[in-house]
Amino acid sequence: MNLTDTADRWWKNAVFYCADVQTFLDFDGDGQGDLRGMLHRVDYLADLGITCLWLMPFYPTAGRDDGYDITDFYGVDPKLGSAGDFVELVRTCHSRGIRIVVDFVMNHTSDGHRWWKEAVGSTESPFRDWYVWRSSTPPDTSKQVVFPDQEDAIWDKDPASGEWYLHNFYKTQPDLNLANPAVRDEVMRTMGYWLQLGVDGFRIDAVPFLFAQDQVPRKEQKFPPFDPHDYLRNLKAFADRRNGTAMFLGEVNLPYPQMAEFFGSGDADELSMQFDFIGMQATYLSMARGDTRPLAKALRERPRIDPGSQWANFLRNHDELTLDKLSKAERQEVFDAFGANKDMQLFDRGLRRRLPPMLGGDERRIRMAYSLIFSLPGTPVLFYGEEIGMGENLDVPGRLSVRTPMQWQPGDNAGFSTSGRRSLVRPVTEGAYGPDEINVARQRSDPDSLWSFVQRLISRYRQSPEIGWSSVEVLDPGDRRVLAHVCRKDEWSLVALHNFAAEPVEVTVEVPGLKRGSQLVDLLTPGTPPRLETGARGRITLMMPAYGYAWWRVVVEDDRRIDH
Ligand code: NOJ
Repeated sequence: MNLTDTADRWWKNAVFYCADVQTFLDFDGDGQGDLRGMLHRVDYLADLGITCLWLMPFYPTAGRDDGYDITDFYGVDPKLGSAGDFVELVRTCHSRGIRIVVDFVMNHTSDGHRWWKEAVGSTESPFRDWYVWRSSTPPDTSKQVVFPDQEDAIWDKDPASGEWYLHNFYKTQPDLNLANPAVRDEVMRTMGYWLQLGVDGFRIDAVPFLFAQDQVPRKEQKFPPFDPHDYLRNLKAFADRRNGTAMFLGEVNLPYPQMAEFFGSGDADELSMQFDFIGMQATYLSMARGDTRPLAKALRERPRIDPGSQWANFLRNHDELTLDKLSKAERQEVFDAFGANKDMQLFDRGLRRRLPPMLGGDERRIRMAYSLIFSLPGTPVLFYGEEIGMGENLDVPGRLSVRTPMQWQPGDNAGFSTSGRRSLVRPVTEGAYGPDEINVARQRSDPDSLWSFVQRLISRYRQSPEIGWSSVEVLDPGDRRVLAHVCRKDEWSLVALHNFAAEPVEVTVEVPGLKRGSQLVDLLTPGTPPRLETGARGRITLMMPAYGYAWWRVVVEDDRRIDH
């Protein structure tokens, strides 16, 4: 493949890192992380090797949904810093070769937003129609609520006017009305603003809700229906005009065929990337069963995408580990394996845990899971703290259990803040996953730590763009406990094997396209890389240790990349 392609469509072999400013590093000692703290850890991120920092919302907020309820789309939460601090962070990241993507949350505003206050203040206000209203009583929407612990409908009555407003999330988050051209313009203006401040793209929140128009009876709709795909295409074209390599990463938790539509019809002319929620959920089911067939099935069903589009592969994010696309029985299997305690479950569909405690702290299994996610066609996305194997704090309510302060060092406040413990934005995790056991300081100086392993995965992934640029080809290793796949882009290919079982398994796979005598080189073993020669029809036989993993690069003439 042409290596220079990786420079233009940078997201095709990037490594994303999601961080929450308020829990990363507290610079001014008030107990709350801030943008200056973040800036002082950019070199840490560069050292780890990530290439794109995704910032969770840092805008002024009413604080009812951890920043996803925004009161000003053009601002910075004063508790986290200023617009000046933001620009300094962008420049510092760029100088270290790290791009910045910001969370873009315009499906709704907070009810503390000026637009909403004006909208409820008067039915005559020009902002009234920036939100979605109906005067007829809505039907039962209890099955559609996203947060069933607090809501039982997606409509609430505005007492002043007696009309109902739409809120797909909490009732304090009224939905914006994208059917209104003025709102669509404002969305563009907001994107333009952040692009002008130097961001490289957006993680677009709640995409399917953003464009939903069918909640209001036709005769009550004030604006003609708009085509969401036309609009998304326009928005992407606009972002490209402002920044030729802008990237849209969409949160679209829908079945694959519907996701495919959001990539657009040209070459990534709508969303550039989408999280692979289906593959992620299948990975957990496969891990729970020690049987790779659910994952292999999901990978085979992944729609083919254009070269500019990309899957975002992840194991955990800042929300609950949603298992909503599994059947009830499958979900129960995952609950039984990784979170049997009711307190670990959320909304009847997910787990509010981080990966290492779910896997019983078994480092072999944890490494296998990360090796897998980095080897699958797509772009890996890490959630802060995954690189050191942080655990959750179940004493922190709801989804916030996984959003505890970053653990930099042992001892007080995990090195996150110099404030008194009681002023901390959120309590640090305690016990076996607390900072005395799990911290950056110790792991960075240990070549055998999880941190060093993740650093190696990042470097090997970056040196193997055939992973990010290929479509998945699942091979048949003759044993359901092992997933074998090949990533192939033009003359370059990489064979990956992952053993989901707690016992060693010997497997034989035929690598399509290879003949007898092809050479493969191991990319993950530190030191002098072992080599392997294929037998007849490109056959290789390997003994995979319990929870073993391996990446083998096929050696081709004229490949001038560094080996290892
Ligand atoms: C999805 C985000 O990931 C979640 O954290 C948030 O609560 C909702 N969107 C509403 O913005």
